[in-house]
Amino acid sequence: MAFDWEDIFSFETLKIIRVIDLRLGILYRCLQLLIAIYILYEIIRNQRYLKMEPPVPAAIRISLKAPNSITTPYYCNGTMPCAFWDASDIQYPSDGTNFAFFTTRASILHYPNQPGCNTLRVSSPADHCFFKPTNNNVTILPNSYIADIEDYTVMIEHSIRGEATSIAIRNGVMDGELVSYNGTTIRKITNATRMASNPYAAGDIFTVQEILTAAGANLDAPSTANSANKTAGETYRSSGIVIAIIIEYKNVALKIFTSSN
Ligand SMILES: *[C@@H]1O[C@H](CO)[C@@H](O)[C@H](O)[C@H]1NC(C)=O
Ligand SMILES: *[C@@H]1O[C@H](CO)[C@@H](O)[C@H](O)[C@H]1NC(C)=O
Ligand SMILES: *[C@@H]1O[C@H](CO)[C@@H](O)[C@H](O)[C@H]1NC(C)=O
Ligand SMILES: *[C@@H]1O[C@H](CO)[C@@H](O)[C@H](O)[C@H]1NC(C)=O
Ligand SMILES: *[C@@H]1O[C@H](CO)[C@@H](O)[C@H](O)[C@H]1NC(C)=O
Repeated sequence: MAFDWEDIFSFETLKIIRVIDLRLGILYRCLQLLIAIYILYEIIRNQRYLKMEPPVPAAIRISLKAPNSITTPYYCNGTMPCAFWDASDIQYPSDGTNFAFFTTRASILHYPNQPGCNTLRVSSPADHCFFKPTNNNVTILPNSYIADIEDYTVMIEHSIRGEATSIAIRNGVMDGELVSYNGTTIRKITNATRMASNPYAAGDIFTVQEILTAAGANLDAPSTANSANKTAGETYRSSGIVIAIIIEYKNVALKIFTSSN
């Protein structure tokens, strides 16, 4: 077969037809318009023209304060007595960065050296001076509940900053809300509510009870902890409970048109 030069330099192309039909034409333009509106709406509504980034969480500080008047709660009349403690005794460790431990039950024992012994200078485990908890102990506080822990207030301070932008902001100037485990709002926080409760507070203040309510927890409910004595109906107040608080940040949409009057 002969080599066809014309075939090599030939190419394919599309043929466009113009449809002159009023009904199809109207439908076509309407669909085009809808797509254009959708794209513009997406850009304006979600502010796609702005540069956005997830915030970088910074330090969190948690501190406890005793209520103005401590009441004697009903559980002090039960199987265990109550101890009335100040906030600095209840919170441990006292700096409370990122997590806080609040005491709900305590017992304190002191282990003095046995007469004639120094437990730090024992050269053999067989030595009768070797430290054993049963050897010598003095009860400073018997097993007790910490009274009125639900009414103590917790102040939570936290802040965020951007990585690309240098915007840094603390929660003391943010609006927010305490949302429970099932999505219901327990309390809304604005500058006005913050000023009303304590104008000098650096963070958000909740009572321990509010945090328990938000977590759907009740300290007097039987504990599900592995170490809890279930036959004796040991409560969360006795066994302890871990509550994780998730802080979510959301920016409000930028107001392009501000009204002033
Ligand atoms: C505790 O019990 C005593 C007597 O048994 C009673 O007088 C007192 O009101 C009770 N306190 C509480 C807080 O229930
Ligand atoms: C304290 O000492 C007594 C005997 O002196 C002992 O029965 C008890 O178990 C000790 N307590 C602890 C917590 O070790
Ligand atoms: C919060 O309210 C107080 C008192 O009304 C006001 O002085 C302060 O400027 C407000 N702060 C912010 C961040 O709006
Ligand atoms: C959601 O949780 C709150 C606080 O614990 C409670 O008062 C409310 O009844 C719950 N709502 C539902 C629908 O479970
Ligand atoms: C649980 O409590 C009951 C009643 O007070 C007691 O008899 C039992 O020894 C306890 N069990 C454990 C594992 O401590």
